[in-house]
Amino acid sequence: MSASGGSQGSAPATDNQKSSTLRLDDKEHTLPVYQGSIGPDVIDITRLYGDTGYFTFDPGFTSTASCESKLTYIDGDEGLLLHRGYPIEELADNGNFLETCHLLLYGELPNAAQFEDFKQRVTMHTMVHEQMHRFFTGFRRDAHPMAIMVGVVGALSAFYHDSTDITDPVQCDIASIRMIAKMPTIAAMAFKYSIGQPFTYPRNDLDYASNFLHMCFSVPCEKYEPDPVLAAAMDNIFILHADHEQNASTSTVRLAGSSGANPFACISAGIACLWGPAHGGANEAALQMLEEIGSVDNIPEYVKKAKDKDDPFRLMGFGHRVYKNYDPRAVIMQKNCHEVLEAVGADKDPALPVAMALEKIALEDEYFVERKLYPNIDFYSGITLRALGFPTSMFTVLFALARTVGWIAQWKEMIEDPDQRIGRPRQLYTGPAKRPYVKMEDRK
Ligand code: SDX
Repeated sequence: MSASGGSQGSAPATDNQKSSTLRLDDKEHTLPVYQGSIGPDVIDITRLYGDTGYFTFDPGFTSTASCESKLTYIDGDEGLLLHRGYPIEELADNGNFLETCHLLLYGELPNAAQFEDFKQRVTMHTMVHEQMHRFFTGFRRDAHPMAIMVGVVGALSAFYHDSTDITDPVQCDIASIRMIAKMPTIAAMAFKYSIGQPFTYPRNDLDYASNFLHMCFSVPCEKYEPDPVLAAAMDNIFILHADHEQNASTSTVRLAGSSGANPFACISAGIACLWGPAHGGANEAALQMLEEIGSVDNIPEYVKKAKDKDDPFRLMGFGHRVYKNYDPRAVIMQKNCHEVLEAVGADKDPALPVAMALEKIALEDEYFVERKLYPNIDFYSGITLRALGFPTSMFTVLFALARTVGWIAQWKEMIEDPDQRIGRPRQLYTGPAKRPYVKMEDRK
């Protein structure tokens, strides 16, 4: 029997199968309970509606496991983040982004030969079809780069028909490699277009992060060699953003993919969802907030606003649906931030002292302590990205670039599941009951 009834099936039924009993309308219903390798057990409600005529109700999915996955595990209370079992701290301290991509896609860290092969495959797909350049000229120069990303990434399915058949594992793999390879190129093109500079082609002699900095910051008029310290910091930032379990944009990609939509269209849907300020747009919003606060003296006023229920203002870069402890990525991000600021001589960035003071004040304030609101990955990333030379409007684009491997790995895991079905939630309907049509002349 599959782990969760009619969907992904890897956790086989065991003789000592745990179960739960639901008493409803004087009847008892037994619901199977499944155990993961780590983390909370789940109650399988696949048959609940068929057996009881009831739906469950969980807007925001605070208590709902939407799928079974082997990719990423988060323990919000412990502030733990594992990718295929490896702690994010160890991947960030010892590895690089491309090996993390291999780990997420194929389940294991690559050996030297596998890494070289994977790197070569990605490198060979970094260019985009030359005709894609024309898409950009259709956008206003001041278009938000995320608007461009949604459009151009979705349009990849108009060019790469040889990797859109999701029933062909070879095409799924090529589409995965293409997405990882082309996102930096498209992101750099969106940046170059917004500043009126010519597009820069990828260089096959550079590593992934260096190549991205090259495509963003080199100009035809002079030689440009990416700073290895900044390239290492960029690579580290990509690792921190690679995947994060079933967050809003990943769930969007899975739901889009569950209908059989092609991978490029699914990633475009994920980019659209990530753009929201409650999600990936928070890094852009967090820096704007720090700039609006302006000085340490103004912090108490903004903390008061954040606590005021009648004020929609929230501390951007703070709080998380899952982490009720420090986001482990934020800890690494803060260290990365200081290193980059020092390397570029921007350690006088006025936003940094405001961020550090705000973090200290918030972490001592009862309101935030009681609600377990800690800085998340977006709190320091904006300061770091600005120091790397990116405008605020590019921050979420960089998040999308890095998260593409997580989206595509989660999509691939879903597509490869023989029990995969289209996602189709139900609802609690509170609208009008059935009523007869009223002719226009009879309406009040
Ligand atoms: C990302 O899911 C992921 O994994 C996402 C992500 C990933 O890698 O994919 O980690 C990336 O999106 C990080 C989060 C970035 N967003 C922000 O920084 C925006 C600011 N944060 C929030 O809007 C909020 O914390 C969320 C959206 C992140 C989480 O919202 P929840 O889980 O729905 O929590 P909630 O809104 O129900 O808040 C619980 C309480 C509320 O107060 P009470 O009604 O209990 O009195 O905490 C308060 C909220 O008002 N609260 C905040 C706050 N966040 C929550 N109050 C002030 N400032 C905040 N930032």
